[in-house]
Amino acid sequence: MNIQDYIRDISDFPKPGILFKDITPLLANHKALVSCADQLVGLCPDGVKIDKVIGIEARGFIIGSMIAERLQAGFIPVRKKGKLPYDVKSKSYGLEYGEDTLEIHIDAIKAGEHVLIHDDVLATGGTAKAVCDLVKELGGVVVQCNFIMELEFLNGKDKLDVPRSALLKY
Ligand code: PRP
Ligand code: MG
Repeated sequence: MNIQDYIRDISDFPKPGILFKDITPLLANHKALVSCADQLVGLCPDGVKIDKVIGIEARGFIIGSMIAERLQAGFIPVRKKGKLPYDVKSKSYGLEYGEDTLEIHIDAIKAGEHVLIHDDVLATGGTAKAVCDLVKELGGVVVQCNFIMELEFLNGKDKLDVPRSALLKY
């Protein structure tokens, strides 16, 4: 199944000049949703047991949890500042449009655990890099960052020093 058919372009959202990739049609279609999760699991490296899958708020939560279920791994939410209830590690980062802070619970990852990081889009890479840093600070090993889409013209790959994979490239 070509999941590209279920991603729609929205011009000038959330700011003028940004071409937003809207995945809600993909989420709304059962076959596309299941296929997307299956294809992302297919991108995961063979022979490595994944202990935890991180989904990045907000759009990384949805399919990240489906990937965790398929890999028989735990799911860890990385959230925007102030949303997690327990003690956190925080990391600020620059975004394609703006700046933000992400947080993870300090006990979410145990030292040496293998972690897969999932998000919908790799754009400038600031978000994924911040999450990689949080995982490393907790002693985890990032096995892969995987994305539905990579916006190659924004060179997010240059910020990442871990393996990455994406179903679609623009
Ligand atoms: C978007 C997108 C990625 C991130 C990619 O999230 O869902 O998480 O930007 O950008 P980067 O590679 O330039 O860092 P956003 O922060 O807009 O939040 P949302 O997922 O909660 O909508
Ligand atoms: Mg996001």
